[in-house]
Amino acid sequence: MTHKIDPCTLVLFGASGNLSRVKLIPGLFRLDLLGRLPDTMKILSVGRQEVAPDAWHADIKSMLDAKFKNGVDAKVFERFIARNFYHANAPTDSNAFRKMKATLSDEKVFPQNLAFFLSVRPTDFAPVVDQLAAEGLTQEDKYWRRVVIEKPFGTDLPSAQELQKSISKHLKESQIYRIDHYLGKSALQNIMLQRFTNTLLEPIWNNQYIDHVQITNTEMLGVGDRTKFYDSTGAVRDMIQSHILQILALTTMELPKDLTPKGVRASKIKVLEQIRPIPVNELSKHAFRAQYASGVVNGEKVPGYLEELEDNSSVVETYAAMKLFIDNPRWQGVPFYIRTAKRLHEADTRICIRFKKAPLQVNSQDQNWLIIGIQPRECIKMEIQSKIPGLDINTRTIQLDAANRLPEDDTVDAYEALLLNLMQGDNSNYLHISEAEAQWRLVDPVVKAWAADKKPVYQYPAGSRDPEASKVIFEHEDQFWRTSIELGGDKP
Ligand code: BG6
Repeated sequence: MTHKIDPCTLVLFGASGNLSRVKLIPGLFRLDLLGRLPDTMKILSVGRQEVAPDAWHADIKSMLDAKFKNGVDAKVFERFIARNFYHANAPTDSNAFRKMKATLSDEKVFPQNLAFFLSVRPTDFAPVVDQLAAEGLTQEDKYWRRVVIEKPFGTDLPSAQELQKSISKHLKESQIYRIDHYLGKSALQNIMLQRFTNTLLEPIWNNQYIDHVQITNTEMLGVGDRTKFYDSTGAVRDMIQSHILQILALTTMELPKDLTPKGVRASKIKVLEQIRPIPVNELSKHAFRAQYASGVVNGEKVPGYLEELEDNSSVVETYAAMKLFIDNPRWQGVPFYIRTAKRLHEADTRICIRFKKAPLQVNSQDQNWLIIGIQPRECIKMEIQSKIPGLDINTRTIQLDAANRLPEDDTVDAYEALLLNLMQGDNSNYLHISEAEAQWRLVDPVVKAWAADKKPVYQYPAGSRDPEASKVIFEHEDQFWRTSIELGGDKP
């Protein structure tokens, strides 16, 4: 399905920041290259510094050169540069917003449908929207006006609600685009489609057949130079609060009424609101945290988190695992184990579903698994039992393995897809406020309880597998993390 795009102007706040240089501007260029931008579409980049038009165009060239090592098509480059303008504007300088309005009101240059992409500090989201509104730039009369809020949308439920209160003074829900870049990944968009377009999958996707589900996101990288940000955030807020809960929602939602943004989001909201709150009085049975110590990753010795932070007192988690239940007829009683970690033995994002025991058990340990690989490999695998050819009756596990992405498929960056959706007015891959709220409601008590507990946090060596101690959250003795998507990944 493709949607048409109205002529529009994208106003990019924070244009000289990292996200914009690495993802947004190169992403827009790629959309231009693919012929997906309307002819008259314009980009007004906004930054704090004064930059002359030629210098800005030269800067864009350097961003594209850094991204597209094989060079860029000269004709498309010329077309792209002609779309690009620059405006200096500090987030709180009302004079500058007035000038911006004057610039934008030149209808011969700038199409009047306006999308404002706020790639700025979270504390600037509300003030920028206030200023835009004061200039009448959020007002939808003849033309649409949309505002993209980069993550994080708040740092807990009260702050998310506060931000919502402030921006919804000026914007309707349909005008607010809250980003979770995971929703721009094709592999995530595939989850719902693969589930519901296959008769083979949907009938067994429930508590009658499923023993438990594991949703995993691990990285080999550490926190790098983001220690300050990370120590005020932690793995739960950084990864679980949105990326992993969104994967969970797509894995567990009911068939949407239709594929409209409203239909899809309503299904996700419903299931997110059906996740049972984690009982804080029994937290240690439902959630586990740890920090990476020094260790070896890819043959290289790396320091531990506390060393990088230069603060031994931090109790912030770099590994977080939780057990969740969903209170609805489809999922009653099925544990969902979710986890995320920095500096684990592999970098992998996946959904692993273990099915209940079959009526005939030849090897007692072997159960069916269905695995959806998200990254780095986009694939679907099924582990089934099969007779070992020969004179004896014995079975072994074999893996059916199919690629969800073929080598010839186009690779589209998540931000590219989301930018296109923004201009199309399709917000199905952006978060509704009810999703953001449900997610905060779920993680807030854990974050709070962990922050208050100052006992030293369990340490795992960088590059190792899951800490054995994380086993406390499993319901049954025979359940533990799969360590990989490969055959045998379910064995310790
Ligand atoms: C970001 C987190 O939202 O997602 C990072 O802040 C994390 O800590 C990143 O590394 C992972 O994104 P991706 O697309 O590389 O899986």
